[in-house]
Amino acid sequence: MARVLILFAHPGQRHSRLNVRMAQQAARLDGVTFVDLYAEYPRFNIDIDAEQARLVAHDVIIFQFPIYWYSVPALLKEWQDLVLEYGFAYGQSGSKLSGKLFLPVVTTGGARDAYREEGSNHFRLRTLLSPLEQTASLCGMRFLPPVALFSAHDSALDGRADLHIAAYLRLLSALRDETLDLNAVSRFELLDDDALSRVDILRGVTPNPADMAPSGLPAGSNSARMSE
Ligand SMILES: Cc1cc2nc3c(=O)[nH]c(=O)nc-3n(C[C@H](O)[C@H](O)[C@H](O)COP(=O)(O)O)c2cc1C
Repeated sequence: MARVLILFAHPGQRHSRLNVRMAQQAARLDGVTFVDLYAEYPRFNIDIDAEQARLVAHDVIIFQFPIYWYSVPALLKEWQDLVLEYGFAYGQSGSKLSGKLFLPVVTTGGARDAYREEGSNHFRLRTLLSPLEQTASLCGMRFLPPVALFSAHDSALDGRADLHIAAYLRLLSALRDETLDLNAVSRFELLDDDALSRVDILRGVTPNPADMAPSGLPAGSNSARMSE
């Protein structure tokens, strides 16, 4: 079993319609360590040693947060600035995170269509998250396509929220149980609702020809497990 760490960063939880529900349910999963960073560090006094020890003790590192100003909320940036030290996360002898998996889990207020070159936000969500992707790369971690729910405000009304939370929990279980086909997952730009609906297939359930991965390989075949 892989040890999964969720670092949850949401400064406005009173108004949250989605992230808090996702977080509460994820926190109840066996084998998942859940940390509410804003509850733990309301004054931003991050315990660097404790955070580094927590990272070392886990195999899968997840940042769960709402997109704020096209980026991470402030405490999560502070956490990166302080915890991912030279000599620990990168640089000479800084290889403590090497080989771990890294997964961002985000929600947006903006609609999917806005996150296109020709849309009102001008950039794709994956592009906006490229600082995290490159940070993971510098630290020797394998970056997985971000889990994303667009138009989070509307999701409770249009029925997507429950489906998204269920899919998120399935993904977490597969990461924990090391049953995820990482190569198949990595072919997605984002793990949006459409991609997440295939997680059962990625776990090796009999593939349906209609669900062939883009390369033409059945997505559930030849599972490359995390431990490989
Ligand atoms: C300060 C602030 C900045 C925000 N910036 C963005 C943004 O850049 N892009 C976007 O799509 N949504 C933005 N939002 C909307 C949040 O991402 C959205 O409310 C959140 O994902 C909804 O999840 P929740 O119900 O769990 O809070 C912002 C919200 C706040 C309060």
